[in-house]
Amino acid sequence: MCGIVGYVGPKNSAEFLLTGLRRLEYRGYDSAGVATQIGGEFQITRSVGRIDALAQRLQEKHARQQIIDGPTGIGHTRWATHGPATEENAHPHLGGDGEVVLVHNGVIENFQVLKDELIAKGYEFKSATDSEVIAHLIAEGLKLTPEDPEQLNMRYVTAVQWAINQLRGTYGLAIAFRERPNMLIAARFGSPLVIGVGRGEYFIASDASPLAGSTDRIVYMADHQLAVLTPEGFSVLHRDQGKIRVDVRPLEVSDDNVELGGYEHYMLKEIHEQPEALRNAMRGRLDEENATAVFGGLNLTPQQLRGIERITLTGCGTSWHSALVGEYLIEELARIPVEVQYASELRYRNPPIENNTLVFGITQSGETADTLAALRETKRKGHRTLAICNVVGSSIAQAADGGVYLHAGPEIGVASTKAYTSQCCVLTMLALYFGRMRHMSFERGQEIIEELHRLPGAVQQALSCDLQVRDVAAKYKDATNVLYLGRQFNFPTALEGALKLKEISYIHAEGYPAAEMKHGPIALVDKATPSVFIIPHGTTYDKVMANMEEVRARGGPIIAIASHDDPQVDSVADDVIRIPRVPEFLQPIVSVIPLQLLSYHVALLRGCDVDKPRNLAKSVTVE
Ligand code: F6R
Repeated sequence: MCGIVGYVGPKNSAEFLLTGLRRLEYRGYDSAGVATQIGGEFQITRSVGRIDALAQRLQEKHARQQIIDGPTGIGHTRWATHGPATEENAHPHLGGDGEVVLVHNGVIENFQVLKDELIAKGYEFKSATDSEVIAHLIAEGLKLTPEDPEQLNMRYVTAVQWAINQLRGTYGLAIAFRERPNMLIAARFGSPLVIGVGRGEYFIASDASPLAGSTDRIVYMADHQLAVLTPEGFSVLHRDQGKIRVDVRPLEVSDDNVELGGYEHYMLKEIHEQPEALRNAMRGRLDEENATAVFGGLNLTPQQLRGIERITLTGCGTSWHSALVGEYLIEELARIPVEVQYASELRYRNPPIENNTLVFGITQSGETADTLAALRETKRKGHRTLAICNVVGSSIAQAADGGVYLHAGPEIGVASTKAYTSQCCVLTMLALYFGRMRHMSFERGQEIIEELHRLPGAVQQALSCDLQVRDVAAKYKDATNVLYLGRQFNFPTALEGALKLKEISYIHAEGYPAAEMKHGPIALVDKATPSVFIIPHGTTYDKVMANMEEVRARGGPIIAIASHDDPQVDSVADDVIRIPRVPEFLQPIVSVIPLQLLSYHVALLRGCDVDKPRNLAKSVTVE
């Protein structure tokens, strides 16, 4: 959680810092702050609340001429871990007598021990955060490190290295020094960090999105790396290897990707981007000639792939739901046994994982702490780990033995939408790939490819239910409980629909396999509790129809998500939202569309902050 930015160059740094922080706001939004530097002076401005509040505070300071623009600066948007969301706890934090200022993303587990030692040495703490410890430690490191007139920056590098060597936990840091204006140090362990490479200017950010529009080149920092940035250039050092060469890559994010582009909310924009996101997920990966899929980054030989006997899929939240879809897909199309595990459980459960098990971590952000830890733990035990991930260069992408990128573009709304459907799409292609290595016929492979080609069009068609969904949302917006029911491929859809509703509208919702309803949840059914049935045509259609009748018999309102040509459903459901017909294995991708829109409209009508729901952050980098 938390987002950090930094700038060194000829311009007024505050401009980049504010734009960058707005783009990182999804990572945390309870307080924010910036420090700008001109000459030896730091100007620190912090505020509780959103980036808008910080911008307002900066404007007021400008008007009173209390602030001087500076060409070096760092900034932070916070999701509180240690200490409540107050101005004192907002970053940046000063160290020593103000010779150091820094912003931190991560958690320092041994902060209390370090803090006690620093207090004993006379350091005064102004906040309850773990991050302030790092600032004072660096100040202490500076005291212990003499200046080297030959290499002026080296003293600061040594002090930072001395400090971070004592930290247990995770950090992404941007650090500025009073005596060394026009220089920033960035350091990473376990929290994401990138460097934007400009001409005569350099940037630090938690992910690529702040860089769009400012530069077109990026470096993804890895753990144990530290970077020194000045307007003249940048260099990267590794804890054990000293100065290293790093890849400078083209930035793949554009301004269009990270702006609202005429939509009222990122979530709505991302819902509507799904046809294109699916095309991007499939681009170059469907091999018509061999009726299979191709993946560049799995880093496994065909023999190794052929030898896989089991697959474990792991992830959290929405990504765990796509893992459930993956289980149905891979078992049905490839006939490989699949187990789905919550990453937070897998990391501590120590389950026996058999030889020849392939472990996939599924994640939009690539930064989820539990998913990262689960992959590291299974990798340590000698299993091959792969990532299905959206964010290029993220921690999980770096930690896995290989993987598949979603190419969905930045997902900024906190509620995951296009990443979910892209994950399901990638899992379908993997199921095709594994299936074609085993028993699946050429003809079946061809059929699946044809259906995949039609998928973006079907999703586009499903999106046309928006106006109708708005009316349905108006009808049920005051409900306090909602049930979501589906079977087989659409059981995960029910879970995902319920999660979407609760996280952004704060209505309690529960997803259940439709047939399980009569073993408990049916007791909840009454006139005030709507049930959303996901009932497109398919093998269990009649059974789900019977479950719908049971709810109707007890007076519960029914919203049905049904195939466009279903003649029966109207007689049972109060509201029917129609979706195009696709084969059962693709239904999760199409049937979730009205559910995403339903949660969006309900949240909007209830006056909720759709893109930044309370208590949540987009990437959950703490346990
Ligand atoms: C829900 C949502 C979360 C994430 C979860 C995992 O809409 O977005 O449940 O799916 O925090 O995040 P990633 O996929 O980034 O690992």
